[in-house]
Amino acid sequence: MTQSDRTNTKKLFIKTYGCQMNVYDSERMVEAMGGEGYVTTDKPDDADMILLNTCHIREKAAEKVYSELGRYKGLKSAKPDLKIGVAGCVAQAEGAEIMRRQPMVDLVVGPQSYHRLPELEAKARAGEKALDTDMPEEDKFEKLKRRPKAKRGPTAFLTVQEGCDKFCAFCVVPYTRGAEVSRPVSRIMEEAIDLVERGVREFTLLGQNVNAYHGAGDGGDWSLARLIWGLSEIDGLERIRFTTSHPNDMTDDLIAAHGECEKLMPYLHLPVQAGSDRILKRMNRQHTAEDYLRVIERLKEARPGLHLSGDFIVGFPEETEEDFQATLDLIEEVRYGSAFSFKYSTRPGTPAAERPQLPEDVKDDRLQRLQALITKHQREIQDSMVGRDVSVLFEKPGRLSGQMVGKSEYLHAVHVTADDVAAGDLRKVRITGSGKNSLSGELI
Ligand code: SAH
Ligand code: SF4
Ligand code: F3S
Repeated sequence: MTQSDRTNTKKLFIKTYGCQMNVYDSERMVEAMGGEGYVTTDKPDDADMILLNTCHIREKAAEKVYSELGRYKGLKSAKPDLKIGVAGCVAQAEGAEIMRRQPMVDLVVGPQSYHRLPELEAKARAGEKALDTDMPEEDKFEKLKRRPKAKRGPTAFLTVQEGCDKFCAFCVVPYTRGAEVSRPVSRIMEEAIDLVERGVREFTLLGQNVNAYHGAGDGGDWSLARLIWGLSEIDGLERIRFTTSHPNDMTDDLIAAHGECEKLMPYLHLPVQAGSDRILKRMNRQHTAEDYLRVIERLKEARPGLHLSGDFIVGFPEETEEDFQATLDLIEEVRYGSAFSFKYSTRPGTPAAERPQLPEDVKDDRLQRLQALITKHQREIQDSMVGRDVSVLFEKPGRLSGQMVGKSEYLHAVHVTADDVAAGDLRKVRITGSGKNSLSGELI
């Protein structure tokens, strides 16, 4: 008899890679497996099931998963009851190949099939190989069991849309997450109300292409702006954010909402990838640098003081020094509060992977220069907050005693020393200092 038979609870070790959507999916899988008697553990050695929720966006992603799996070989031979599963975007891309290359893997599940995880686990327990990388039409989230009324922290992700039809020439997402699908308004509302009852004060609405949202609601399809307005009516919900957006789907109503909806935070992640029209065209981004700048201008007219963040790829095939300079110029014009930047890396099956590649040292050099510029702006913007009043949603105690930390509306981490502040409180704070990665301030 194993320990898990005796206590009737099994332990799940889940490791999450990649974007926020994977973080959200992992939470849902934990809740679903909770219904099957699983509790989470942070020690793989204690686990009855190890689940890797993988990402396929970076180079050699699949190889890294295989080597991570290799690390559990000893555990698996010492404990044959241990079930090992691979979920997420590498699972979708590799499918049954994972079980061929790593026979100790019992279960492979793609991102659109998580609602079938309990069945797959039962199948694996029965000693069979369990694989599901279908992309069914049903709403996987609706089918996932939730643990009733467990208390939640003040911030939560809420997936409203998945997949992407844009097919940027570098990106695997349309292949791993499938076609763009929006969840119906009623399901999102139900989930949102439940989360707010459990203590959530801020949502980040998630989607690979979140501003292309068009879910079925009262009177037809709702846009993202309409959904935000709908959510903003929930009592107890204080803040709404959303990510990730495509510049071409920044509709008039969404731009206007930035000026009119008080609960929508003045911070927007709007990736552009590059500043050269020639490269944007080869990336199949379907917009020019000017189009992007125009969208930003309109956003800032609607909401003066809006902070922006972005994603950049340097060293895309055929990128010349002049093209790269255009990216730097665009950054200079926008001045991002933060940004993610990457060297282009080939993803099998995407159009750009077939093209001649730039030398690694050129990519390294450009990445360094781009990051230096972004860091400079980030620093200046963060320092310029000193002396200003912001609102802070407190999340947890800070490292020092008596300290609490939370996020401002602009997503800066803010530390405050005060004994009458609890997680979930939204308070006005005067910023008094700007540190390495965070601000400090005093309650007003
Ligand atoms: N759906 C989002 C994010 C996609 S993936 C969007 O449309 O913006 C997150 C980021 O990873 C991208 O914005 C891009 O900057 C980067 N990325 C994607 N594929 C890449 C590749 N092959 N090489 C380097 N960076 C890549
Ligand atoms: Fe990938 Fe985003 Fe382009 Fe879609 S819009 S293909 S998710 S980079
Ligand atoms: Fe990665 Fe899949 Fe997200 S490839 S970035 S985990 S959608």
